[in-house]
Amino acid sequence: MNKKTIITILNKKQAKEKITMLTCYDYAMAKIISSQDIDVLLVGDSLGNVRLGYENTIPVTVEDMIYHTKSVKRGNSGAFLVSDMPFMSYEISVEDAIRNAARIVKEGGADAVKIEGGIEIASQVKAIVSSKIPVAGHLGLTPQAVNKLGGFKVQGKTKESKDKLIADALALESAGAFLVVLEAVPEYIAKEITSYLKIPTIGIGAGRYCDGQVLVIDDMIGMFTEFVPKFVKKYANVGESIKSAVKNYIDEVKKGKFPKEENTYK
Ligand code: KIV
Repeated sequence: MNKKTIITILNKKQAKEKITMLTCYDYAMAKIISSQDIDVLLVGDSLGNVRLGYENTIPVTVEDMIYHTKSVKRGNSGAFLVSDMPFMSYEISVEDAIRNAARIVKEGGADAVKIEGGIEIASQVKAIVSSKIPVAGHLGLTPQAVNKLGGFKVQGKTKESKDKLIADALALESAGAFLVVLEAVPEYIAKEITSYLKIPTIGIGAGRYCDGQVLVIDDMIGMFTEFVPKFVKKYANVGESIKSAVKNYIDEVKKGKFPKEENTYK
């Protein structure tokens, strides 16, 4: 499959073609997802919740991101590969942000990094982009700020927070971000932001008018069921399939039905 680039992604907004993005955390899943011509694979720090069993994304480290990015990179057959910069890997200083972004690209093999926040981190975005690394922004419900936000809540409900969202999106574009993820914001705000920006918006719980959509793979295939937000559509029930396969296996081993003759060496 032809490798997608930042140009592929930017051109899609111009051509009014929807951009498709899914999270991905390992080689096996990267092979499966990228075989379907997805535009962007996101090694999200949501791996902290859905793969590492943390309560939120705060404990995720740069090393975790590099480890999972390497694995996804080996299975990816053509998607543009974006990896999250985890909590506190870009907030402290511009130098820190460049160093950690460089590690995720150099050691992990990502094509770009994603950072949560707006005006407050615009100088980091500018510096990373100046260091030749494309940056995606992430606004609205930014999970790394869960303690500041007071929970996983829809954002932009007041006039003040709506205005801040718009100002943040414009600041990210000016700083050189190549796309902005909008998470858990009312549809009409996402629509407005999408119309103001030249760069694409990718929605997750942001309604129908974004330039593209992203979901957490474990949510959409029914692998992670502890908490499923309203905006998730379940396209499969893989968790239930695995349970049933494991149950059958245990049953057959106990009853001596597996292995059969065809599973043994002569
Ligand atoms: O970490 C993640 O999976 C994300 C998506 C929810 C956009 O940032």
